Amino acid sequence: MTERIFIGVAWPYANNLLHLGHVAGAYLPSDIFARYHRTKGNEVLMVSGSDQHGTPVTIRAEAEGKTPAEVAAYYHQKFLESWAGLGITFDLYTTTGTPNHRAVVQDIFLKLLEKDYLYKDTVSQPYCPKCSRFLPDRYVEGVCPSCKMPGARGDQCDACGKPMNPADLINACCKLCGTTPEFRQTEHFFLRLSAFEKPLLDWVNAQAEHWRPNVQRFTRRYLEEGLRDRAITRDITWGIPVPLPGYEDKRIYVWFEAVIGYLSASKEWAQLRGEPESWRNFWQGECKSYYFIGKDNIPFHTIIWPAMLMGYGGLNLPYDVPSNEFLTVEAQKLSKSKNLAIWLEDFLSRYQPDALRYMLSVNMPDTSDTDFSWREFVRRNNDELVATYGNLVNRTLSMLQKHFEGKVPDHGVLDDRSLSMIARTEEILITMDDLLHACRFKEAIKAAMALASETNKYLDEKAPWKTVKTDKAAAGVALYTALTVISGLRTAFYPFLPFSSERLHHFLGYEGTTQNDGWKLRRPVPGASLNPPEALFIKLDESVIEEETARMGLTPT
Ligand code: MF3
Ligand code: ZN
Repeated sequence: MTERIFIGVAWPYANNLLHLGHVAGAYLPSDIFARYHRTKGNEVLMVSGSDQHGTPVTIRAEAEGKTPAEVAAYYHQKFLESWAGLGITFDLYTTTGTPNHRAVVQDIFLKLLEKDYLYKDTVSQPYCPKCSRFLPDRYVEGVCPSCKMPGARGDQCDACGKPMNPADLINACCKLCGTTPEFRQTEHFFLRLSAFEKPLLDWVNAQAEHWRPNVQRFTRRYLEEGLRDRAITRDITWGIPVPLPGYEDKRIYVWFEAVIGYLSASKEWAQLRGEPESWRNFWQGECKSYYFIGKDNIPFHTIIWPAMLMGYGGLNLPYDVPSNEFLTVEAQKLSKSKNLAIWLEDFLSRYQPDALRYMLSVNMPDTSDTDFSWREFVRRNNDELVATYGNLVNRTLSMLQKHFEGKVPDHGVLDDRSLSMIARTEEILITMDDLLHACRFKEAIKAAMALASETNKYLDEKAPWKTVKTDKAAAGVALYTALTVISGLRTAFYPFLPFSSERLHHFLGYEGTTQNDGWKLRRPVPGASLNPPEALFIKLDESVIEEETARMGLTPT
């Protein structure tokens, strides 16, 4: 039975380049999941886009003397290049700057207002007397009342993840000039979150079976503290206008509209493919919706967006929010504030995308924080990708070129050992199917690499390079068996390592694509032609460790 799968991926702020934390946190896991489901023959819609509004973008624009639109356009282009380079296959990657997005946001705003889930209230907001302006949340900084860390912003404390109101901050000051803000009265629209406390708790309880424990814990704690209504407009000029007269100086709050991007992007996708109603299959029909996000975005996806959807009515709620923990770099010696992250485009200018995808997949921060170190990257690349998987492929295909005229050998009568290697391959594909379906990516890729390693042992035992001189049929059996496993590994690794799987597909002489072969073992046909192999992966020199850590101003661990 085919499934329908909606995949929403966090919308990155168009105010800075992407770093490896973004990739490991949301973009790689979502792409693995999408490729896996497409290979299964399921109907997938994966969308995201650049989050171009809000103060993260205006702060950057002010710092660079550019307009927010210029900053957003620049980073949007960078993001598109990064997705292509890393092989992240969105069905649509758009921005929050489209007329379509604006229309969908304003429709939701008006509908929630009509249903009394939005209301007006006068509130006191931080106002900087020196800058003569109201200060958006991110323009106010201070000490977090919850974890007591300094540097908390008025919208959220990054140290403990707690969403914040500027008035909660201890020792608040204006980010632009350092002045202590005053609080002045201003009128805003509020989302009646408190009305959704009970329905949300019931809904979260019903997800207990399949949500990750960290996501459940976080959400439950948040709900148990009680939901306060939240202002969803701001006194700023960059963003989506409030669709009512008299509010020309205000804009809809960036978080309220960015999450609506999942829906507006689905509608844009449907329009672009010339079936404008087809978004409904994913939002109103039988469909499971998955949202891939970093852990700092959890409450927006398990509380606020579901509340908005419940209020609007008739649209599917999230099925799962497989949020990842954080990726540290070189054992937390780096921090973004020192601008010492590893930037994706820089990484891709020197290394293969599959090498990065491999490293971040086997080391994925899915249940706890994990660390990226250059030493570990070089080791895994050389020992696992090159010496285990790459070597298996290379020696098998090279021997077939050399001794079997570049053709799939006749397998004759397969002995038990060989039959059990082929059975193992089918078994691993089934195991991985379950793991991938449950978003357990790290375990899945480890199962594939373990099979590659087992197959190398099998080949060492059979030693076809020796038997080819004395018993060519026996060598043929061993190489046919190894070739069959390799054909299975091509599929097993495909969601993780799409570039090398496609190349391998070509070496195997197959037509079409790995994805179109489906999630099953395709057996090579005796007599069929193979293509001459080339190395799948590039071995890295140990000097890379020193070079790259020095580039970041560190000494290797
Ligand atoms: N732009 C936000 C961030 O980078 C994430 C937005 S996710 C979405 O933290 F839900 F708004 F789409
Ligand atoms: Zn100020």
